[in-house]
Amino acid sequence: MFVDRVISGMRPTGALHLGHYHGVLKNWVKLQHEFECLFFVADWHALTTHYDTPDIIEKNTWDMAIDWLAAGVDPSQATIFIQSRVPQHAELHLLLSMITPLGWLERVPTYKDQQEKLTDKDLSTYGFLGYPLLQSADILIYRANRVPVGEDQVPHIEFTREIARRFNHVYGREPGFEQKAEAAIKKLGAKRARLYREHRTRYLEQGDAQALEGARELLDKAQNLALGDRERLFGYVEGGGKVILTEPQALLTAASKMPGTDGQKMSKSYDNMIGLREEPDVITKKIRTMPTDPARVKRTDPGEPEKCPVWQLHLVYSDEPLKKWVQEGCRSAGIGCLECKQPVIDAVLAELKPMRERAERYQEDPTLVRSIIADGGEKAQKLAEETMRDVREVMGLRYT
Ligand code: TRP
Ligand code: SF4
Repeated sequence: MFVDRVISGMRPTGALHLGHYHGVLKNWVKLQHEFECLFFVADWHALTTHYDTPDIIEKNTWDMAIDWLAAGVDPSQATIFIQSRVPQHAELHLLLSMITPLGWLERVPTYKDQQEKLTDKDLSTYGFLGYPLLQSADILIYRANRVPVGEDQVPHIEFTREIARRFNHVYGREPGFEQKAEAAIKKLGAKRARLYREHRTRYLEQGDAQALEGARELLDKAQNLALGDRERLFGYVEGGGKVILTEPQALLTAASKMPGTDGQKMSKSYDNMIGLREEPDVITKKIRTMPTDPARVKRTDPGEPEKCPVWQLHLVYSDEPLKKWVQEGCRSAGIGCLECKQPVIDAVLAELKPMRERAERYQEDPTLVRSIIADGGEKAQKLAEETMRDVREVMGLRYT
């Protein structure tokens, strides 16, 4: 039960660009080899802010799924699916809403920020207020303990931890919990039982995080323990009741410094992006026409890389000798700007070539993507249903 499980979602904003690749997707591709991974298109989350443009959601979703596959997210390694195809997320969202204080939602920093920023839209809706809670449901329903996100999402993960804690506190108290936990300890066998008690005491009395870790490892290895007993003992180390929902950790991804074709951060709203599936000649042209150091009016004028957006791209793509060649050549007017851009063009095209090739199959045969997403949805539903059974039961909704 305590396997490391990774979950992350992305709102379907349409075709992805190099900023998404360097900021998020490259990391997903790496994680899928290290952990059990679930990646999903957060189409309901898109509706919280784009409720008035439902027509673009579906196309954006398929485009994004193709981009993930193109970037190397591998459906045989990771489970990829669409949020709304696993309606259990909505059920958990509703059930969690029963114990979510309004003040907690109003205090999430993204709530007021976004409301003030997106002034062209009325975001004083129930759905928008509940955005972080829906995200909590996305995470908690898989008992995922690691969530790769950028800095901006950290308050949402923190919020999710608080919700999990509150839920466990309210519903994890079964009658006779202590006696059951004590009985479960005996089932560990004498040696393990003694170790478990030592870890627990050390954690409860001194807050020793290593002791907590030690107890968890010990429980992981105790194969003979029934699931219910294991959950009790996980909860009992921390003094509380049964752990029904797992508190996740943010897996911080370093902010992508991927610059756009104007030197600012690459973003759709700045119109400075290079799409993952753009044609090579379009990309070549975009880079060839990029602005450079304004001081280099003529080929013979020396320039300063620090004042040039092309240099930002060299920092991402070029090795030391090449960067030296740029700095010296630019400052001495030894190289021209087009000459300087060529290695960047080559590097971007080389990076995107395998993506274009992978994408081709999916563009030609959309049923391939549909079936990958359908399989992923089925797998996700199975996992989600396991958690929902426990959640319904402790909330008095078992009806057998
Ligand atoms: N809110 C996230 C974002 O804007 C997207 C998201 C929705 C998400 N549900 C999630 C991310 C669950 C991680 C886990 O980037
Ligand atoms: Fe920019 Fe390169 Fe031209 Fe210098 S030589 S201004 S770094 S493009």
